[in-house]
Amino acid sequence: MGKKEKILITDDEKSIRNALREILEFENYSVIEAENGEQALQAIEKENPDLVMLDIKMRGMDGIEVLEKIKESKPELPVIMISGHGNIKIAVEATKIGAFDFLEKPPDLNRLLVSIRNGLKSSELIKENRQIRTELHGNTDIIGNSPAIVNIKKLIEKVAMTSSRVLITGDNGTGKELVARAIHNNSGRASKKFVDVNCAAIPSELLESELFGHEKGAFTGASAQRIGKFEQADGGTLFLDEIGDMSAESQAKVLRALQENQIVRVGGNERITVDVRVLAATNKDLPLEIEEGNFREDLYHRLNVIPIHLPPLRERQDDIALLAEWFLARLREREIIFSGKVFSNDALNELKKQDWPGNIRELQNAVERLALLSPEDEIMAKDVQKFVQQKKKPTELLGKLIDETDSFHEYKEEAERLFLIKKLEKFDWNISATADAINIQRSHIYNKMKKYDIER
Ligand SMILES: Nc1ncnc2c1ncn2[C@@H]1O[C@H](COP(=O)(O)OP(=O)(O)OP(=O)(O)O)[C@@H](O)[C@H]1O
Ligand SMILES: [Mg+2]
Repeated sequence: MGKKEKILITDDEKSIRNALREILEFENYSVIEAENGEQALQAIEKENPDLVMLDIKMRGMDGIEVLEKIKESKPELPVIMISGHGNIKIAVEATKIGAFDFLEKPPDLNRLLVSIRNGLKSSELIKENRQIRTELHGNTDIIGNSPAIVNIKKLIEKVAMTSSRVLITGDNGTGKELVARAIHNNSGRASKKFVDVNCAAIPSELLESELFGHEKGAFTGASAQRIGKFEQADGGTLFLDEIGDMSAESQAKVLRALQENQIVRVGGNERITVDVRVLAATNKDLPLEIEEGNFREDLYHRLNVIPIHLPPLRERQDDIALLAEWFLARLREREIIFSGKVFSNDALNELKKQDWPGNIRELQNAVERLALLSPEDEIMAKDVQKFVQQKKKPTELLGKLIDETDSFHEYKEEAERLFLIKKLEKFDWNISATADAINIQRSHIYNKMKKYDIER
């Protein structure tokens, strides 16, 4: 059988805690205790129990107050309330706030155990449910309480049900694709396909056939008919990612498709009507691109019916801790890490201090690294300092390097090493993409990585 499930007993009477502990340990649960609300909240943060039993009448914070706090930070954690005197009003209130069950003291043994089993089962189901949803649609929970994110969540709700085009802008890793998927999943098109095209990754000669498909024999190598992304997305959503990187020619063709809601396969004559909602994203400043003659203004207006801008992570610092906790919880849930792995407050503060040029994707990678590499159950500030690289500006790094190195040869090698690491990070450790970008052969990169002992 799997690991023992952990139950937190919160009651200010020691005799009750002891009695409950004895029963639960006999049933093979692992038990922790708290004698008041403050202690309970701390234990929940630090020890991450699977279920909480909470006395209603306690000195200090009462059970209802504690329940409210738990539901704010961990809405899915099942909480069973216990109360000395059957008070229906309180029971109703507790259930409204989100208590899983309500038992009277002294609890009937059978009823107690059934309630605990059900509570654990229900949170298990919620987790499984989310995993299935994630596997099917990708995860589209948007985490964050910063005003910008709260607004974006409201906007998504508002526009999802319409068929309006949305242009999502923001730096790398700020969550543009996540927003696009959330719009699709909340729309009437959710049961149809979400088709994404990365316009930057496809050479412009091929983009047209990718988007519109082609007929057999349309060009050399077109040995069979191909259905393009517009047709694949019929009834659903087409996500044009990195739209700012599309060639002028492709822009003209896309504009036409959007104006007419019709496409023509490459090499074909038939005009095919499609019902597609188009969402687009870019990290470029399109008005500037228009000014510089790189992007068509008419296409911009077609795409930009509803703009959604995602601010960089450093401008929503309050979300950093929330996101870090969320990513860590997902790792625990997938049992990639031990269920007792948690962040210390100092570690979260240290994370807040970082710059996060790679935004949420970078934070997600950092949390994974910390979860796997930090030696203790509790992730400490010093782990963050050690495993999450402090990003310095390249010029600062070079200056430091010059100061610290005397030998020209050493300087060159160290500069090469740093350059490679930075570029590999930028391309998410995709060797081919990095090789292309810095214009050397893949085999060269492998050799250098070996030479300098560079590992992901
Ligand atoms: N608010 C959020 N809550 C939870 N996870 C998020 C949030 N924003 C982004 N993520 C996660 O961060 C990662 C990066 O997000 P996403 O791919 O949507 O960014 P992007 O803006 O499309 O990046 P790029 O410009 O590099 O394509 C994904 O794993 C995504 O699920
Ligand atoms: Mg993206």
